[in-house]
Amino acid sequence: MRLFFASDFHIEHREGRRATRAMADWLEMHATASDVLILGGDHGHEDEAILECLEMFQKFDGQVLALAGNHDVWGEPDLSSERRLHRLWNLFESFEYHPLGAEPVVVDGVGFVGCMGWYDYSFRDPALDVPMEVYRDKRLPWTDEPVWRDARFVRWPYSDEEMTERQASELARHLQQLGEVDEIVAAFHHVPTRILLRPDVLPEGVPRRVLMPRRWMVLNTFLGSQRFADVLIDESDRIDLALCGHIHLARRAVEGGITFVSNGSDHERKELVVYDGGHLKRKRFGADGDVETSAE
Ligand SMILES: [Fe+2]
Repeated sequence: MRLFFASDFHIEHREGRRATRAMADWLEMHATASDVLILGGDHGHEDEAILECLEMFQKFDGQVLALAGNHDVWGEPDLSSERRLHRLWNLFESFEYHPLGAEPVVVDGVGFVGCMGWYDYSFRDPALDVPMEVYRDKRLPWTDEPVWRDARFVRWPYSDEEMTERQASELARHLQQLGEVDEIVAAFHHVPTRILLRPDVLPEGVPRRVLMPRRWMVLNTFLGSQRFADVLIDESDRIDLALCGHIHLARRAVEGGITFVSNGSDHERKELVVYDGGHLKRKRFGADGDVETSAE
């Protein structure tokens, strides 16, 4: 089995749509029935775009597993994000894509778990001394209005902390549900460990941001939660790999015996992470169908 992971399609952007199409065409040509493709969320934020993105991967020969991203649950005021999430899972099923957030799955003896993930402010940097209410308002300490756009477009009936906890508990339950399966891959939209955000602890060869603007030091808080790594590390004897999207940065780091890998798709180029026989490769597709491949 080869495992493919792609995310952050944001199909509304013209270049991104063409790059996603190039990736889907490549997969149609090269994937076999024994391969697995995980779609890691942020297909788009409009219904039509999400549908168009899902349609592109319909000819993938193997099993497709799909996750929602935060943009996928952005919505009109009369439809809660929870309703949107469930509607999305139904849409995945209509394509015969397995909704990974709803249920784990086993393919050829390998277990797959995952969820959209969320944030509970566990990524905040205490040294910045930003009051919790600033994070709850999704603004910066020096702005009055929210700057993180989930504040405008996401409507959960829970706080961010509750939303994170609900999903982390569900993840733990799904791991239990996999019983005796001893090889498990986890996938998320949001970032499941802060190690992927901290250049100071990243291994050699990973791009480091020497200077990070203060704005981003605050906004990092909304990129994910350490809670998900905690759940995985409890079961690290049977989990080797955890994948995520959302940050548009290609990174890899090891924590608690688990390799965490983020997808580096940006608005112009779309990245396909390829995991084959323990080896990691990244293929970056451009709008003109050009492909760059790198091995890690
Ligand atoms: Fe996202």
